[in-house]
Amino acid sequence: DFELSDIEMKALDSLNRPDGGWGLPNPHEILDCNKMTEKSLAPHVIAKEIAPLGEGAMSLDDYKQLYAQSIADPSAFWSAEAQKRLDWFTPFSQGLAGDFHAGDVTWFAGGKLNVCYNAVDRHVLNGNGDQVAMVFEGDEPTDIRKITYLELQRKVSQIANALKMSGVRKGDVVTVYLPMIPELAMTMLACARIGALHSVVFAGFSAEALAQRISAAASKFLITADQGRRGGKSIPLKDIANAAREKLDCEELLEKVLVFERFYHPESELPYERMPKDVRMDELVAEQRPYCPPETMDSEDGLFLLYTSGSTGKPKGLMHTSGGYALYAAFTTQNTFDLREGDLFACVADCGWITGHTYVVYGPLLNGSTTFLFESTPVYPDPGRYWDMVQRHKITQFYTAPTAIRLLMRYGDEYPTKYDTSTVRVLGSVGEPINPEAFRWYFEVVGKSKCTVVDTYWQTETGGHVVTNFPGITPMKPGSCTLPSYGIATAVLDPLAGTPVTEPDEKGHYEGVLAISKPWPGMARTCINAHQRYLKTYLHVYKGYYFTGDSVILDQDGYHWIIGRVDDVLNVSGHRIGTAEVESALVAHGAVAQAAVVGQPHEIKGQSIAAFVMLVEGQSESEALVNELKNLVRKEIGGFASPDMILVTPSLPMTRSGKIMRRILRKIVCHEVDSLGDTSTLADPSIVDVLIEKVASFN
Ligand code: WTA
Repeated sequence: DFELSDIEMKALDSLNRPDGGWGLPNPHEILDCNKMTEKSLAPHVIAKEIAPLGEGAMSLDDYKQLYAQSIADPSAFWSAEAQKRLDWFTPFSQGLAGDFHAGDVTWFAGGKLNVCYNAVDRHVLNGNGDQVAMVFEGDEPTDIRKITYLELQRKVSQIANALKMSGVRKGDVVTVYLPMIPELAMTMLACARIGALHSVVFAGFSAEALAQRISAAASKFLITADQGRRGGKSIPLKDIANAAREKLDCEELLEKVLVFERFYHPESELPYERMPKDVRMDELVAEQRPYCPPETMDSEDGLFLLYTSGSTGKPKGLMHTSGGYALYAAFTTQNTFDLREGDLFACVADCGWITGHTYVVYGPLLNGSTTFLFESTPVYPDPGRYWDMVQRHKITQFYTAPTAIRLLMRYGDEYPTKYDTSTVRVLGSVGEPINPEAFRWYFEVVGKSKCTVVDTYWQTETGGHVVTNFPGITPMKPGSCTLPSYGIATAVLDPLAGTPVTEPDEKGHYEGVLAISKPWPGMARTCINAHQRYLKTYLHVYKGYYFTGDSVILDQDGYHWIIGRVDDVLNVSGHRIGTAEVESALVAHGAVAQAAVVGQPHEIKGQSIAAFVMLVEGQSESEALVNELKNLVRKEIGGFASPDMILVTPSLPMTRSGKIMRRILRKIVCHEVDSLGDTSTLADPSIVDVLIEKVASFN
């Protein structure tokens, strides 16, 4: 099986790399900064009075004990949590059923609930209707909206009724292509209320990518807005949606396109072109009754789909369920961020990604907390934007990605120092390994050495955090996401044998690929209409395990150091991109015969995209062609996937059977030409020197 041996090869390859994998400092070296770690233990001590599980202060030993319990009997552990944290219309009869072998995992079977009811209504019923549920800050710092739980219940109900009026029924997939405005979160909740599955497509995706996701999910409904706004610039979302409708079978499929008109003004013209099937959403919503009874859903009914990149050209539509996902979102939000009454929780991710689903919308609201929605960028109107918001809104938890931290670091200490950030207790990091230098800056300069920095490792597939430290409990080590969260049985597997690594190396470390050996409630249950693909990608790579696709080093304290993906998935500024997707965009150009894409270490983005293209006969290299190719990637996927380097080459390193050896390209772009390994199996070994030369002259 080609795919499997490929993963194995890449795993081995990435583990052997002297830079620790993906341009990050060598984990072996990072481990030497334990001195810094001792210093960062201070907040650990300060935060000791916290009761993250609501049951008295916890120590590392308490964590270890509770963790052991959660692993010994996950079904009992999560059943108790599900009773405590969620309101069920009908109680469930079973905790966990099914297993990884059969791929039939279920949680809380027989239980009936509605996730929107849990996230919104029950807080109103508990007398907290006047509490602010959402604080929205738009692209302009003056564009602020605060929405209470009661207002949220009414607005979500109206949108839910508008969806019903438009023909949306329980089980339908509603594609959501909206900017980061409250209507995005409200639309997600409205879908949950009526039992429709939302499939949010990040507003940075192109018309092609949007069309692909609409048609893959056979989605009959699209919700969009006239425009989005970022960094003072407009994004013509409706025009892009119109273009998507001209692709594939989209137009045939779509029954209604619902348009929020954010910039509507009675005297001016609409900033977009209207099409048949368009519905003016604000008008429709205004006519609806502000109460919509929540649909009764089975615990295992789908809550949403989210498309994510994998090793093939087609993104996978992962499905998350109602009961399990909701519990996991609620649980991890509270524990990882030490959420308490009166907190203002700010996750500045976009709802187009899983982080926005779990930690902007579902997690904070299920906890009855106040969540922050941010539309803009960290540098608009200046690089003090985040810290200015923290000061103005008195934010208590702040959650962002290493790429943003590295970007802001460049502007120096002046910005974070200028603002009062003393309300913050927890700073979070997500999306890629955080390099110790960025961690240190986040901890010392932003957090004034008084906050816990939680390095949260997880994936679209896991629904919520799976490896992370807990404030006041887990000692931090900059660069490590530390220890597994409750109920997560991590395992380090030998990539070839597929069994746990039992022998430590001479440093006492265990190296291998990261897997999880027991089901947890937040795991995605299937890829929509592609269960075989789900099994093949996650559950059947290593029998009896969920395979993350990442490689890891476990140190002598059991701390996890994520090295990077071992499959063909890149992580550019925390955005997950499949190399195959970029390659298929490039070969769509008539002049390109073949393309190979690999990741290259990048100071701010973590990784950037390097593409090698072979032209069809008669075509020649030019700057214009390179620009056309970049634009093509923008058009097919989105601006964030545009390669930083495109090199035209006479051929590619291929085996005699015609398989491109990307690992050789990876070594070349990482300037690791000394460790290329055996190149004699290449059809044309001389190409290696040509490529080394090309890369050297590009830089
Ligand atoms: C990477 C984002 C190291 C990892 C929530 C994973 C991380 C992929 C971390 C999932 C972290 C995420 N440390 N690596 N704290 N968090 N990753 O699906 O490679 O967009 O497999 O989910 O991001 O990306 P995804």
